[in-house]
Amino acid sequence: MEPTGYHELDQLLPRLAAIDRLTGDAVEAERIAILGRKQGAVTALLKTLPDLPAEERKAFGAAVNRVKQAFEAALDARMAAVGVGGGGAVPAGLDLTMPGRQRWVGSEHPVTKVVAEICDIFRSLGFAVAVGPEIEDEWMNFFALNFPKNHPALDAHDTLYLSDDSESREGGKLLLRTHTSPVQIRTMQAGPPPYRVVIPGMVYRNDPFDPSHAPAFAQIEGLAVDEGVGLVDLKATLTQFVHRFFSPSTKVRFRPSYFPFTEPSGELDVECQLCHGSGCPACKQTGWMEILGCGMVHPNVLTNAGVDPERYSGWAFGMGPGRVAMNRYGLPDIRYLYSGDMRLLRQFGGADR
Ligand code: PHE
Repeated sequence: MEPTGYHELDQLLPRLAAIDRLTGDAVEAERIAILGRKQGAVTALLKTLPDLPAEERKAFGAAVNRVKQAFEAALDARMAAVGVGGGGAVPAGLDLTMPGRQRWVGSEHPVTKVVAEICDIFRSLGFAVAVGPEIEDEWMNFFALNFPKNHPALDAHDTLYLSDDSESREGGKLLLRTHTSPVQIRTMQAGPPPYRVVIPGMVYRNDPFDPSHAPAFAQIEGLAVDEGVGLVDLKATLTQFVHRFFSPSTKVRFRPSYFPFTEPSGELDVECQLCHGSGCPACKQTGWMEILGCGMVHPNVLTNAGVDPERYSGWAFGMGPGRVAMNRYGLPDIRYLYSGDMRLLRQFGGADR
């Protein structure tokens, strides 16, 4: 007569076939029921081996081991099919088909995007990109740029000073630069002409935070100096820039203006991208958006920076990329750009949802 162990082994075989239909926790439960060290059914049969007569032990041991290996293989395969990470059990209540959590993906700020694009366009027109410090002294920020000593912009109302009147050297008072124009001086001091540079950076003014002013905002300075450079170069280059940045048919207009460091001076308006000239709240019904100030570099500025105004001439501009971004994206209030509001930033792709 066959030893009883074979019968018990046979009875396990239907459970081997059933493994392929097990789900979730049931796979691990079956592994414990069959192979568990304490109460596993196959383990129990293995434990009977030492009590068997020697001549039966070998054959029955081999049979139990074959079944054991078959269970192990089937349970591993089933675990990989239903489990997480190819082997772990799926905890009860975990729905593997549930969508994952949205990852927080950062994105470039609209002003950063616009600055990069503007710099790329000027690079393609032969300009280099440079930067300068945000802390300057009065001389760099004002006097080298031909501001008269009593100019209203020198008033503490507009300028954020970092040191007080006790500063000994004239023009030595430290301040947060109110424009990127001091980097014109730094560029010219660094080596001989010609210069063709654009200089992006943040500037600071003691202004209220209102729809058209921010106490800290981005600017891009431009400077082109060489022999025989004239107003036509300024107009042609800036018009070309607008046509590349907006569209080849975008209208531009130069208006006369005043800056101490340029003569003549102008401002460049671009056709409002929202109403295309017919007038809307964003352009205050004018149909135009001012994006930059510009002009021929004043001879005094060239002299102050060590460049001979008899030999060289040039032009400069100071652009507000925030204004450009407002025009492009149709934003009515500059505070959207400079207050870090996620509801705006999300609309420029990537930010958390
Ligand atoms: N610095 C001027 C401003 O901040 C802009 C400007 C730069 C104008 C260069 C002319 C030339 O308003």
